[in-house]
Amino acid sequence: MDDQHKRLIQLVNSLVSVIRAGVAEDLLGEICRELYDYTNYHFRDEESLMQEEGYPEFEAHCQLHAEMTTTVKEYLDELEKGKQVSPNDVLEFLAKWLVKHILKQDMKFAAFVKEKRTKAQREAAETAAATETQQEVDKWLSNK
Ligand SMILES: [Fe+2]
Ligand SMILES: [Fe+2]
Repeated sequence: MDDQHKRLIQLVNSLVSVIRAGVAEDLLGEICRELYDYTNYHFRDEESLMQEEGYPEFEAHCQLHAEMTTTVKEYLDELEKGKQVSPNDVLEFLAKWLVKHILKQDMKFAAFVKEKRTKAQREAAETAAATETQQEVDKWLSNK
């Protein structure tokens, strides 16, 4: 998941450079398309992981993904129709939504998974300790 996030940030960064350099619209469209495809792929992956882990905020998180996908698709459609898209709008959207989403919402999910693992480990350790005690008691009782 982290690698996918890195790739997404990379794509956002290349979009920033392209916009800063004032490069032609077709390149902007190309990167937007790549970003859109990769975002979709990543969201699907992330959502199935969330489902597997039983993430309680799954529905709300999917909603955020759907909103982002719709907006990127709108920009993409306009670009592909040859319409003028304000590069600043695209950048603002990406910075505000995608990057912030990764930093805030996705990290919340990562924290949930970490907590879950820690809890499972703690429980396993407690069970092991209890079993050991039980065995000691049994041994002591059978020697009596
Ligand atoms: Fe993500
Ligand atoms: Fe996400």
